[in-house]
Amino acid sequence: MSVRRLHSEQPESFAFTEENAAYLQKVIARYPEGRQASAVIPALMVVQSQEGWISRPAIETVAKLLDMPDIRVLEVATFYTQFQLSPVGRKAHIQVCGTTPCRLRGADEIISICKNRLAAHPFELSADGDFSWEEVECAGACVNAPMVTVGKDTYEDLTADTFNALIDGLAAGNPPAPGPQNGRFFSAPGNGDTSLTDPALYDGSAVGKYRAFDREELSPQPAAPAPAAPAPAASAKPAEEKPVPKAVEAQGQADSEKVPDQHKPSLLEAARGGKADDLKLIHGVGPKLEELLHKLGIYHFDQIASWNEMNLRWVDQHLGSFRGRALRDKWIEQSTKLTTGWRPSNKDGDKPA
Ligand code: FES
Repeated sequence: MSVRRLHSEQPESFAFTEENAAYLQKVIARYPEGRQASAVIPALMVVQSQEGWISRPAIETVAKLLDMPDIRVLEVATFYTQFQLSPVGRKAHIQVCGTTPCRLRGADEIISICKNRLAAHPFELSADGDFSWEEVECAGACVNAPMVTVGKDTYEDLTADTFNALIDGLAAGNPPAPGPQNGRFFSAPGNGDTSLTDPALYDGSAVGKYRAFDREELSPQPAAPAPAAPAPAASAKPAEEKPVPKAVEAQGQADSEKVPDQHKPSLLEAARGGKADDLKLIHGVGPKLEELLHKLGIYHFDQIASWNEMNLRWVDQHLGSFRGRALRDKWIEQSTKLTTGWRPSNKDGDKPA
């Protein structure tokens, strides 16, 4: 690992181009007021894309822009090897991974090529000024070792030949496609698949099957007696059952603690009289969740008020990404109150006890 210090020769000043300054304002605006410092890495990346490396004046400019002490920006710039602290090759700065897996798979040869073709030492510019290189620690592509990083791209599964071809391509402005250079698909087994070879594993037909096997064949459970049916609310019409949408049902089947369908509450095909209650009056229910409840067949407060605990749990597990809301927000209690005509004065502020 190299020592990371600012370059001995620094420019007088630094300024973002108009275009980059405007782009950075948009990036900074993504963060809450007072949290502009969160944009420090994007800002340094913009500096690097503009100048090729990070200078002291650039660090000071970024610190001022983000209202940070200079030292905080310096810490970030010197910590991450993605940031160059000295001028680099015009066409490419090649970061060669020299950590164990890459070493075992030929990083030595890659480094020798860098020394012979580009520059004798890391961070030295090539004679034509087009290239520079350095050795870095693991870049997270060990399974495709050896590898190098050039800007935002990684070139993996390198050999001497493919690395030389990469340098030729970069010099000609026509580098090969990033990724494995030996033709393999990402990090798939290099010599072909040796396990999980059944094509059915990848066509979607096996989704959820292992859970059914585990639940029903390995650990059969006698069906629990159904709880006494809740008394229908005064205004409730005989409930009609509505099939659960397939996507919702699939989500439910994937859950490990499935509430059996015998606990499915009475659901409706449509709102009674064509007018649903405003379910958004239930604390924690917004337009999206209300829409999902309608899809499930839930339109009225008295429906929810008539549920028992298991009905509530059944519904809750069919709420997709909203799972947990029904239990957390005590929908039965809220709805019971709403059936009496009570309305929250402030929907968000008036939570149930
Ligand atoms: S060891 Fe080289 S990418 Fe991890």
